[in-house]
Amino acid sequence: MTSELITGIAELTTNAGSGPGDVDGNRITDAAVVIEDGRIAWLGAAADAPDADTRTDVGGRAVLPGWVDTHTHLVFAGDRSAEFEARMAGGRYAAGGIATTVAATRAASEEQLVAGAQRLRAEALAQGTTFLEAKTGYALDVEGEARSARAAAEVADVVTFLGAHLVPAGVDRRDYLDLVTGPMLAAVAPFASYIDAFCEVGAFDVEESREVLLAGRAAGLGVRVHGNQLGESGGVRLAVELEAASVDHCNHLSDADVDLLAGSSTVATLLPACDLSTREPFPPARALIDAGASIALATNCNPGTSYTTSMAYCVATAVLQMRLTIAEAVWAATRGAAVAIGLEHGAEAVGSLRVGGLADLQVLDAPSVSHLAYRPGVPLTVGVRHRGERVTAGTTQR
Ligand code: NIG
Repeated sequence: MTSELITGIAELTTNAGSGPGDVDGNRITDAAVVIEDGRIAWLGAAADAPDADTRTDVGGRAVLPGWVDTHTHLVFAGDRSAEFEARMAGGRYAAGGIATTVAATRAASEEQLVAGAQRLRAEALAQGTTFLEAKTGYALDVEGEARSARAAAEVADVVTFLGAHLVPAGVDRRDYLDLVTGPMLAAVAPFASYIDAFCEVGAFDVEESREVLLAGRAAGLGVRVHGNQLGESGGVRLAVELEAASVDHCNHLSDADVDLLAGSSTVATLLPACDLSTREPFPPARALIDAGASIALATNCNPGTSYTTSMAYCVATAVLQMRLTIAEAVWAATRGAAVAIGLEHGAEAVGSLRVGGLADLQVLDAPSVSHLAYRPGVPLTVGVRHRGERVTAGTTQR
């Protein structure tokens, strides 16, 4: 068991405090960290650092928790750049585009699906994402969804069953709901921790979504909801009613939706890269935070609405376009996201750096996290530790 002392940390963001505004609880300047056996053995002011077996000097850079990406659709085949190009020329995103990816995903082998997801997982990890959720939802038949769930379980930390993504062409709605809540759920549940439903015009209405989510809950899965992406779908109300872990998208919220979220334990997971790629209005992030709602940020990596693995891009967009402070955005992409995935506390907690906790962290080629928005688009993550192991394959390993 070798210990490693990391020095030269100009700014250590721990996000171990009580909230994004708790500067003293979340940040240490001129800091050091000791990693041992994949966990943080010590952290604090550099002047007080203990000895360790090895030493790494990161040269006056910022260190923060690895990103926690709680909304991705990594298991898919095919390309939808033509649809994206048409949208950039004035078209509007509609749920039906999912069918294109369903056809390609059904035609792919399980090995191809795993390889594609692994490529994106590696891309995300190199950019600082040390924890990642992945959904099924691009096969929409029993064997295909089970295959997608197995592939997701190979690459992701948490798997979500999204059989209720779209009713496949040529299938009766009632028959499909019976399939999703019956044999498909039974086939996927062994690989999944959560169930999700796309509660939206063109996908599933509130009643249908409720039926699916309750079936998942009865099978032992936690609940997540795609809600209010393209209109006031009722998804947020349903998520709060079911005490879902999160409701994701939240572009179209009434004042009542904001109040409901603020009075609930459901995290509003905002997906800024998706909003840019679909040209939907951004969610009212400031109103949510100011009302007291919990928020998270995620990439929503998928081929239709958000083909990026970059959490840094989401953080920069949340600051520059959605008016979050730097501290709020970094919190939402780490500790806030940990809340959304039920891993804020305990031995396997993610999204914060604490003594005894997992050594999932990243080094920025910058003296402070403010550079994430101050220098948008620049790949600032130059070092990543996942469970203490150095994983970045970049040129500047720290
Ligand atoms: O989260 N909104 C539903 N599902 C994905 C997009 C699916 C697609 O168009 O392929 C999302 O944006």
